[in-house]
Amino acid sequence: MRQAGSVTDLAEPLVLRRGPSWRNRLMLAPLTNTQSHLDGTLSEDEIRWLVARARGGFGLVMTAAAYVSRAGNAWAGQLGVSDDAHLPGLERLAREIKEHGAVSSVQLHHAGKRADTTVSGMPLVSAYDEPAKEARALTTGEVEQVIEDFAAAARRAERAGFDGAEIHGAHGYLLTQFLEPRNTRTDGWGGDLAGRARIVHEVIAAIRAATGPDFQLGMRLSPERHGLRLEEMVTVAGEVMSGGDLDYLDMSLWDVRKRPHEASDQHEDRLLIDEFTSLERHGTRLGVAGAVSSAADVRWCLEQGADFVIVGKSAMADHAFAAHVVADVDYEAPRFPVSRQHLRDEYLGEAFIDYFAGTWPHLVEDS
Ligand SMILES: Cc1cc2nc3c(=O)[nH]c(=O)nc-3n(C[C@H](O)[C@H](O)[C@H](O)COP(=O)(O)O)c2cc1C
Repeated sequence: MRQAGSVTDLAEPLVLRRGPSWRNRLMLAPLTNTQSHLDGTLSEDEIRWLVARARGGFGLVMTAAAYVSRAGNAWAGQLGVSDDAHLPGLERLAREIKEHGAVSSVQLHHAGKRADTTVSGMPLVSAYDEPAKEARALTTGEVEQVIEDFAAAARRAERAGFDGAEIHGAHGYLLTQFLEPRNTRTDGWGGDLAGRARIVHEVIAAIRAATGPDFQLGMRLSPERHGLRLEEMVTVAGEVMSGGDLDYLDMSLWDVRKRPHEASDQHEDRLLIDEFTSLERHGTRLGVAGAVSSAADVRWCLEQGADFVIVGKSAMADHAFAAHVVADVDYEAPRFPVSRQHLRDEYLGEAFIDYFAGTWPHLVEDS
């Protein structure tokens, strides 16, 4: 095994505008694991899975998408941060993640029209009416309530002892539904890009107002698909990084080496990552996620200009992925597919393994 040495960049602490520094450039991706209790409270399986990643050396450990209000609940077994009943579990989770040297954060989520009404017991809401999905547009007053729900959830995470939170503005959930050109609302929360992006800026501002000066706030955006226009998402990413209220932006690219999806955006030799690493950051840190599975991949992302790297599936396959890439420049995570027993040995509970195998059957061997 060769020692790191020349790769001090990935082992170097990350200093952010607010809140604690991270011990290295590696963040555990938000990973839905459906292991919480049906009322959104923390289970033993969920804390075991996350604390193992803190022990495994990650600079920041992010929870799965956690619902900020019951209407936004997307899955049975989703973590909740919508009610004080969630506090005791969140307190324990924050404490144990931090005990192992990682910075702790909760991902704040509202699924909008992608919620599951059979789980939430609430009607489907979105930025716009979508009769085919039986989803209706939020009223203006309800949009303001959603912003308050994000702020209250962040405040709750802070009270629980978390170092910070990340706003989930990616993957077709409620905030993305507002950003889509399809959102033609005329009440100031839709129409042109400024109107469609307003909710993103107001959620950030409301969380800042509700939390203390050291609360570390991030935002996750995804730049394409789900009806989004890449060019517009580059604009939004630039705006949130220049605003000064965010400490980091987490760009969910699904594959850090991919080219833009839209043919019109495929400039020769231009990768999707370049659209974001070339933006002015104004002191906001920039991370990228997608198909990072080795020390070489992490280094490549940092060489492209990212400040940190977000790791999902490879952190499922190896709870100590971060410690391994810090120690060994040649490290490669176990290759998928992996067996169910492998995932059990890596501290995933049965509910998580079932969910993962059900959604990505080619990644889990029958056993
Ligand atoms: C099982 C699973 C659950 C996920 N859950 C979430 C989630 O709760 N929130 C989110 O923003 N992204 C979620 N993602 C996306 C990941 O955070 C990550 O961006 C994506 O898997 C690409 O990174 P990777 O190739 O390192 O896994 C999930 C992905 C997987 C595989």
